[in-house]
Amino acid sequence: MEIEKLFDIKGKVALVTGGSRGIGEMITAGFLANGVKVYISARKAPALIEKANELSKKYNQECIPIPCDISSMEGITELSKKLAEHEEGIDFLVNNAGAAWGESYESFSEAGWDKVMDLNVKSLFFLTQKMKALLLKRTSLEDPSRVINIGSIDGLNVPALPTFSYSASKAAVHHLTRVMAAELVSENILVNAIAPGPYPSNMLGAAVNHDYSEIEKRNPRKRVGTPEDIAGLAIFLCSRAGSYTVGETITSDGGIVKTASHNLS
Ligand SMILES: NC(=O)c1ccc[n+]([C@@H]2O[C@H](COP(=O)([O-])OP(=O)(O)OC[C@H]3O[C@@H](n4cnc5c(N)ncnc54)[C@H](OP(=O)(O)O)[C@@H]3O)[C@@H](O)[C@H]2O)c1
Repeated sequence: MEIEKLFDIKGKVALVTGGSRGIGEMITAGFLANGVKVYISARKAPALIEKANELSKKYNQECIPIPCDISSMEGITELSKKLAEHEEGIDFLVNNAGAAWGESYESFSEAGWDKVMDLNVKSLFFLTQKMKALLLKRTSLEDPSRVINIGSIDGLNVPALPTFSYSASKAAVHHLTRVMAAELVSENILVNAIAPGPYPSNMLGAAVNHDYSEIEKRNPRKRVGTPEDIAGLAIFLCSRAGSYTVGETITSDGGIVKTASHNLS
């Protein structure tokens, strides 16, 4: 029952997609600081390699970059092949890479629909499918491997911005999490989702010109999320403490979703 045993993830191997910045970097840092070897992937190779070097040095733990565009089946196959060249098996897969698109209802484009749905939903499904063999290698009834899908509170609430495909894609991620959890739990792969609220990142920053003051004022906790908030939740889900939690979508939003009706009254 000691905290070191309940939340121990030392010696595990993880893949975090979109690990070069934002939420993916925050989760990667939490894993590295606690003894996990982490593979990170993203499209822009120089930034990814630089980030992997920076994090490896900071946490004195291996962080290995695999540059890859996972928006296509070719990219997904390439990433899973490259990972299999490095590792016999992995313990954690964090499906974090995602895209958003905002455009008015009248002009909302097919490109904005397809880009977001393809990366956020299709790629997440097929990468997890391709990673199954690696996730099965190190798993057991006592110590199952884990998949964490990064959804969004925009898939639970009606979004403030005109992000039609994004909110639909994240609702799909939450439901797909339950469906994949049901499929994989008997093989000792536990699938859960995190639905983040506002976390500083390129994606959120682009929508508010990197000024989070209004978002902080509106948030029930009066702040945006921090690396500790999201990494702590990911570590819980990957640890002994999280090993009876299956198919859940857990919000990390300062209370936005659960206190929404209170704020209206
Ligand atoms: N920040 C928030 O407030 C917030 C709230 C709710 C949910 N989320 C979710 O959290 C996840 C991370 O978002 P973020 O805010 O951290 O965004 P971000 O700062 O834009 O980071 C996105 C990451 O994904 C990578 N990526 C994007 N397209 C990719 C592709 N086709 N193939 C491979 N990698 C790709 C990016 O690197 P490259 O550009 O080099 O490919 C980057 O590493 C997303 O799923 C997002 O929907 C974020």
